[in-house]
Amino acid sequence: MEKVDIKEIFRHAPAYLGQPVQVNGWVRTIRTSKAFGFIELNDGTFFANLQVVFGEELANFAQVAKISLSSPITVEGQLVESPGAKQPFELKAEKIEIISFCSPEYPLQKKRHTFEYLRTIAHLRPRTNTFAAVFRVRSVIAYAIHKFFQERGFVYVHTPIITGSDAEGAGEMFRVTTLDLNQLPRDESGRVDFRADFFGKETNLTVSGQLEVESYCLAFNKVYTFGPTFRAENSNTARHAAEFWMIEPEIAFADLADNMKLAEEMLKFIINYVMENAPEEMAFFNQFVDKDLFARLENVVKSDFGHLTYSEAIEILRKSGNKFEYPIEWGRDLQTEHERYLTEQVFKKPLFVTDYPAAIKAFYMRLNDDRQTVAAMDLLVPGIGEIIGGSQREERLDVLEQRMAELGLKQEDYGWYLDLRRYGGTKHAGYGLGFERVIMYLTGMSNIRDVISFPRTVKSAEF
Ligand code: 4AD
Ligand code: MG
Repeated sequence: MEKVDIKEIFRHAPAYLGQPVQVNGWVRTIRTSKAFGFIELNDGTFFANLQVVFGEELANFAQVAKISLSSPITVEGQLVESPGAKQPFELKAEKIEIISFCSPEYPLQKKRHTFEYLRTIAHLRPRTNTFAAVFRVRSVIAYAIHKFFQERGFVYVHTPIITGSDAEGAGEMFRVTTLDLNQLPRDESGRVDFRADFFGKETNLTVSGQLEVESYCLAFNKVYTFGPTFRAENSNTARHAAEFWMIEPEIAFADLADNMKLAEEMLKFIINYVMENAPEEMAFFNQFVDKDLFARLENVVKSDFGHLTYSEAIEILRKSGNKFEYPIEWGRDLQTEHERYLTEQVFKKPLFVTDYPAAIKAFYMRLNDDRQTVAAMDLLVPGIGEIIGGSQREERLDVLEQRMAELGLKQEDYGWYLDLRRYGGTKHAGYGLGFERVIMYLTGMSNIRDVISFPRTVKSAEF
């Protein structure tokens, strides 16, 4: 008998009507009367359940009637048109094998659980409707991103997870060491001697693949990396995680305008792709998680993104008369409340803010002619704030060296990076898209902990 996925049945039902099929899945609900019963069966391949009808003619009818929720079963039978109004077809069981009985202490009983509670059972939550939708959409978005870049000729580069450089220069790194923390070897000046460590130098988990992907950009022209990144920032918010995924394209012979164009096209592509390829899940989010979701996403796809310089943003915020918690002053970084005000109240669509003060941005960003600002861009979106951070890179060796010296970055730590300017350097640009943030944006989920399978945030690593 043919083993069929429930998704396959839903997508091509006519082909299976009247056919004998075998379906394997878990019992989501069960209703029984004396002589027959109904099981809503989910096999994980599709958002909806398949209705299974069974009757007394089953040899193990009494046992099946008492089956506990989430027990896995194998059903063999015939797909028939359903007399009920709720579904067009159902599976008429001829044989049901109970593979195992789920313990009655199963924590996911038939009621609504809060997201907070479900975080405490992160290993079981993908079985709920919401999380089934989140993680299926997460997978579809990942595919959409690869598709977008691959179709445009970008080469996918796997940048290292363990690295010796601090790409953002912010010092928010997780150390990787084999040294015994209780007996750290010291050098003559009393500093920890990393020569005795596994790699012979200090290393950490990457905060961004950018520096490494830049070197591939200057060989392949158009590249991207897509992998996990790690930040030991002590921000306990709904948008920050210590382990998150980032997509970082890098393009040669390109400036900030090219960079923004690519980011806008990418975001629109992803939205269209997900709407088309995960329609059931997206409809679920629109109905149960965020009633404005579809309207908002349609607006994004139709709109031309806004553009504003940092200096203009400061002016708008200052004149707004709005009471912000954090002060507004040229030279200070924008906080989430400022970002959200600009994109939600003023522009009401995604907004690029460009040309930030050099002092609050990373060392690799290209210095503008005013010598005060850099060719940086952040993409802000309603509901979230910053979703993308990027820049044109400083390709002038002397300017870059001077900037690094000002920031106290040692040239010998970045020798290979400076080589990229010595040997065939050209203007180039790139950005980082926070993968979890784009998932939040496309689903309406409001906490980053609910779009990561096993979230790593401050003081939380119970799984
Ligand atoms: O703005 P960021 O720090 O930029 C970079 O790392 C650059 N090297 C990227 C590049 O130009 N190639 O981070 C990029 C994006 C942010 O806009 C945000 O969406 C996400 O990464 N992000 C985080 N997401 C979740 N948790 C955190 N702690 C994050 N930190 C950054
Ligand atoms: Mg940023």
